[in-house]
Amino acid sequence: MDSRPIGMFDSGVGGMTVLKEVKKKLPNEKIIYLGDTKRFPYGSKSKETIIELTKRGIEFFIKKDVKAIIIACGTATSQAIDTVSKMYNIPIIGIIEPTVNYILKQKNIKNIGVIATAGTIRSNGWEKALKERNSELNIINKACPLLAPMAEEGWTNNEVASLAVKEYLKDINNIDALILGCTHYPLFEDVIKKELGDTVEIINTGKMIADFIKELFEKENMLNLDNNNLYEIYLTDIECNFVNVAKKLINEELSVNKTEI
Ligand code: DGL
Repeated sequence: MDSRPIGMFDSGVGGMTVLKEVKKKLPNEKIIYLGDTKRFPYGSKSKETIIELTKRGIEFFIKKDVKAIIIACGTATSQAIDTVSKMYNIPIIGIIEPTVNYILKQKNIKNIGVIATAGTIRSNGWEKALKERNSELNIINKACPLLAPMAEEGWTNNEVASLAVKEYLKDINNIDALILGCTHYPLFEDVIKKELGDTVEIINTGKMIADFIKELFEKENMLNLDNNNLYEIYLTDIECNFVNVAKKLINEELSVNKTEI
C-alpha cells in the first residue's frame, strides 16, 4: 500500500484524457496534474527543449513526493522518456510502452495508423517501438500539428474539426487500428470515428496507461487503498481555455493552481 499521489504531466489539457481513464480504473488514487500551458505547444519544439521541460516537470513532482510519474504527453514520451528514465529513481511511465504491449497481444492488428504531433512523428518513436517487437507490422505515420491547438481551443466536434480530421486522415487507408499518439486527440474521437467507420479500432492511450498502472501497482504493492479520489491541477499559465475544455471532458467542476517549473 502506498498512499502517495501519482504525478501526471502534459503541455496542456491533453493529459486530462489520461487522467479521466486512470481515475476510472483506479478511483482511490490521488493525482497531481501538471499542464505546462505557458510553453504549449510541445509538438513544434526541439528534442533538447522537450527533454529540458520534461526534467523540470519531473522535478516538480519529486518535490511533491509522488510515487510514480505518468508522462501523459506523446511528444515528451517519444523524445524524452529514454533520457529521463535513466536520470531519476522513480517509475516514469509514458504513453508508448503500455500501448505497444496492448497492440502486440491483438492478433488482428497488422496495419496501423499513427497520428501525433510533428515532434512525435519526427522522432519515429511509435514505429521503432512497434517494429522492434514485431517487424511484420505495417505503420503509416501522419503528423497533425493543428489538432492539439484546436483541442486547447475546444474545437473538437465542429465543422472545422471534421474538415481537419478528414484532411489529415485522407492518406491513411486499409488500417486495422489507429493510434491516437497525442493525448489531445481522444477529444476528437467522435469525429475520427465518423471518418474511419466501425472497422478500425481507435486506440486511446489513456486506457492503455490505466491498465498498465493498475497491473504495476498491484504487482509492486503500490495501490492506494484509502478512499481518496482527489486530484490537484497545476498550470504554468492560467490565461487559457484549460478549465472549460477539461470540465467538459471529465464532467466535473474543477479548479486550477498556478505554478512555475
Ligand atoms: N498532448 C501532447 C502530446 O501528446 C502535446 C501536444 C502539444 O503540446 O503539441 O503530444
